Amino acid sequence: MPIEWDADTRQGHLRSDHLSYVLRVLEDGSLGHVYVGRPLAIGRAYRHVVPGEFHGFANRVGDPVPFEYPTPGIGDFRVPALAVVHADGSSAVQLRYRAHRFVRGKPPLAGLPATYIEDDAEADTLEVDLGDEPSALVITLSYTVFRGHAAIARHASIRHGGDRPVRLTTAMSLSVDLPDADWEMTTLSGTGVRERHLVTRRLAHGRRSVSSGRGHSGHEHNPFLVLARPATTEASGEALGVSLVYSGNFLAEAEVDAWDGARLRVGIEPDTFEWLLEPGAEFTTPEAILAWSGEGIGGISDTFHGLYRGRLVRGQWRDRPRPIVINNWEATYFGFDEARLLELAQVAASVGIETFALDDGWFGERDDDTSSLGDWVVDRRKLPNGLDGLARSIEALGMRFGIWIEPEMVSRRSRLFEEHPDWAIGAPGRERTESRNQYVLDLTRPEVVEHLFEAMNGVLSSAPISYVKWDMNRAITEPWSASLPPDRQQEFHHRYILGLYELYDRLTRAMPDVLFESCAGGGGRFDAGMLAFAPQAWTSDDTDAVERLRIQWGTSVAYPLSSLAAHVSAVPNHQVGRVTPLATRAAVAFFGVFGYELDLTALSEDELAEVADQVEFYRSHRALFQHGRFIRLVSPFKGDGNQTAWMVVAKDRRRAIAAWYQVLNRPSPGPRRLRLRGLDAGLRYRITLWPEPDDDAVLDGVDVRGGDELLAAGLIPGPFLRDSAGLGDFSARLFVLEAIPDT
Ligand code: DGJ
Repeated sequence: MPIEWDADTRQGHLRSDHLSYVLRVLEDGSLGHVYVGRPLAIGRAYRHVVPGEFHGFANRVGDPVPFEYPTPGIGDFRVPALAVVHADGSSAVQLRYRAHRFVRGKPPLAGLPATYIEDDAEADTLEVDLGDEPSALVITLSYTVFRGHAAIARHASIRHGGDRPVRLTTAMSLSVDLPDADWEMTTLSGTGVRERHLVTRRLAHGRRSVSSGRGHSGHEHNPFLVLARPATTEASGEALGVSLVYSGNFLAEAEVDAWDGARLRVGIEPDTFEWLLEPGAEFTTPEAILAWSGEGIGGISDTFHGLYRGRLVRGQWRDRPRPIVINNWEATYFGFDEARLLELAQVAASVGIETFALDDGWFGERDDDTSSLGDWVVDRRKLPNGLDGLARSIEALGMRFGIWIEPEMVSRRSRLFEEHPDWAIGAPGRERTESRNQYVLDLTRPEVVEHLFEAMNGVLSSAPISYVKWDMNRAITEPWSASLPPDRQQEFHHRYILGLYELYDRLTRAMPDVLFESCAGGGGRFDAGMLAFAPQAWTSDDTDAVERLRIQWGTSVAYPLSSLAAHVSAVPNHQVGRVTPLATRAAVAFFGVFGYELDLTALSEDELAEVADQVEFYRSHRALFQHGRFIRLVSPFKGDGNQTAWMVVAKDRRRAIAAWYQVLNRPSPGPRRLRLRGLDAGLRYRITLWPEPDDDAVLDGVDVRGGDELLAAGLIPGPFLRDSAGLGDFSARLFVLEAIPDT
């Protein structure tokens, strides 16, 4: 997996079995981008692929030379990767190549989450230094190529060698100039309870972007995008994906220039960012991952799933089977006491659920959302035996115990706010914008981070707690910190995230046995930055099975199933009022980290037997669901969205589970065929149905089928004309495939 640097042509070539990334020093000494895509032969020059001399666009005509880290002040009026204001007020930056280094392996990023390796043989890194002579700024661009993943990790470090401060106003993690703009850009966009729906737009002249300025990555857009050729499908064709390993304000953007080239850039959102760089200081951008696929959007997902599941998530929970959780939120909301929780826990234990998660409302005097955030003391009115007493009773039932926390917040009605009103973020002389009766704590202040570490460490050590759901229920509306001077207030958002990462890092290191799940009013901070600390995230507060098809499909484009927490909830569904069968709710939630979020004590004997069967089913296929290869087959975003299908396949391809979902039953649907993917064409598979193993009409008595047939001819997943009425609306069917031993 070489990185080549040719001294004569000053060309750098990062190459793995999966991709090539080529850059070169241009005639004027600036760093140009040459190529990213399918692997190219090493030992050859590719400098002729791009123009080598840049004359700028200051006149009416010019050549759109591709750069690696473009700046203003060179006649390139496309969007920059780096923008600064020098001490004299000027803003030109003219970066020239200085030096390069090879680093075996992959160095960590100080204070920031990043992908990692466990052995230096897994990756190689190229560092290129660029300098701006008059300002003495030195930019080091870092490129890591991985042995087993079709991805390049990039970030930039900006060091100031001059003697007067410089103000950074844009510092992207990645910028790539692509030779054409014949791409469709897909983003994961939506809002609360409708997160990460696919939105696809054709690139056109000008800028197409998604971003967040809310202080967290947000429900509205995700720090991720895919560029795919118009003919690219899930399984074939070229695609590029970028993901930012960051949880704060971000920008992901493509700009099409006058010559139909496209500049792709991703990094911290510039409108809400500035950084004062003192002489001698250094600023490091978050890490961005660029993935390339010649095998469709599914190939992009394979890369991100493998890299994030194996080399971003850290700690023992990376590889351990994740427990099946019952969460009491939708069962009780704030209205519980110990007896009620134990009643629920008893039923949960009797059906085989493994962890009981106590959600919001266990502390202070929190009977609704108007008080007590910040007062992390157990409410003895509800829990007379404390967390410890409750946890031990739960453990006696054979389950583990977990709790909900929201450390970053303070309620207006709380002792913490009375004592430290200045810890709540707000701008001087202005009212704080209300949201869920709570304010965000100022995590830019070290004493606040210290206080929260002590408070949370105290809570988590006070009882046998094995799981923590870390919530975050509002955005930052008036960024300002009493601890920062006026000329550093624009650093607030990034400093907040650095404080958050420090807190997460300290707590997760102090509690290595605890499984952390991140949450932000549902999936409002579902990003790669969080995954470095919390291996799984609450995907959405919308638990309706039909809505979840789109939410989980969209989320899975970037994130592995082992990170998607998915629960079966009550009907009528609390978010959309829809009534779906219990089996369908489970059939959707299986494709993630499975759990329940409903009042099990209200279920009938028959329903509880069904739940026990679901728990057993998930347990026996858990490794496949959490670590198998996830393949999307029929998109809920295509056509009328009435059908969805996806599957998971084991690494050795001997086991797989395919799922087919139908929203509304239609008369006379016809024998539509579903072609499976990822199977071994040379194997024969025994097929079992779930939830109705004995339904003969579906397989027509032929329950062993060849992999070649399932890949090429497919199977008929849905009802035939003769029994279509029996299937009903909101139905689901799973096909469990097991290779038979003689093949
Ligand atoms: C928002 C979360 O997404 C919910 O699951 C629940 O934990 C509530 N907050 C509790 O306030």
